Amino acid sequence: MKRIRLIKFRIVKDRRGNLAFIEGMKDARFQIRRIYYIYDVPGGSKRGGHGHKKLEQIIIAINGSFDLYATDGKQEKRFHLFKPDHGVFLPKNTWREITNFSSGAVCLVIASQRYNIKDYLHTYTEFKKWTARK
Ligand code: TYD
Repeated sequence: MKRIRLIKFRIVKDRRGNLAFIEGMKDARFQIRRIYYIYDVPGGSKRGGHGHKKLEQIIIAINGSFDLYATDGKQEKRFHLFKPDHGVFLPKNTWREITNFSSGAVCLVIASQRYNIKDYLHTYTEFKKWTARK
C-alpha cells in the first residue's frame, strides 16, 4: 500500500542556480495527468478540506510556505512545507487540509487524474464512510 510521505526531488545544482525535476512514474510514482497551482492566497485562508477516492497527488511549496495535514483515516501526518525540492505524496483515499500560507506562497500540485468532481469526498463524515468500505 502506498503511504503519505515526504519526497525529496532530484536536483541539479550549479553556479547558475538550481534545477529540480519530477518525472512521471519515477519520482511521481504515477502517470502525471494534471498540474495546478494555488497562489495569491489571502492570510488565514484554508484550502483542501476534502478527501479523494482515486486521485494521487504531490503537493509542493514551490514558493513560500504552508502547513499540510493529511490522513488516511487512521494515520495522521503534518508537514510544514517550505522547500521547492520537497513534496508530499498523497495516495488515494486521503483527506487533506492546507493552512498557514505565507505571503507569496505558491502551492504546486501534480496529480494522477484530470479534474473530476465525482472523485471528491466533500465532508469528513463522507470520507470516513468511504474509507470504512475499503
Ligand atoms: P478545490 O479542489 O475545491 O480547491 P481547494 O481544495 O483548494 O479548496 O477547487 C476549487 C475550485 O476550482 C472548484 O470550483 C473546482 C475548480 N477546479 C478546477 O476547475 N480544476 C482543478 O483541477 C481543480 C483542482 C479545481
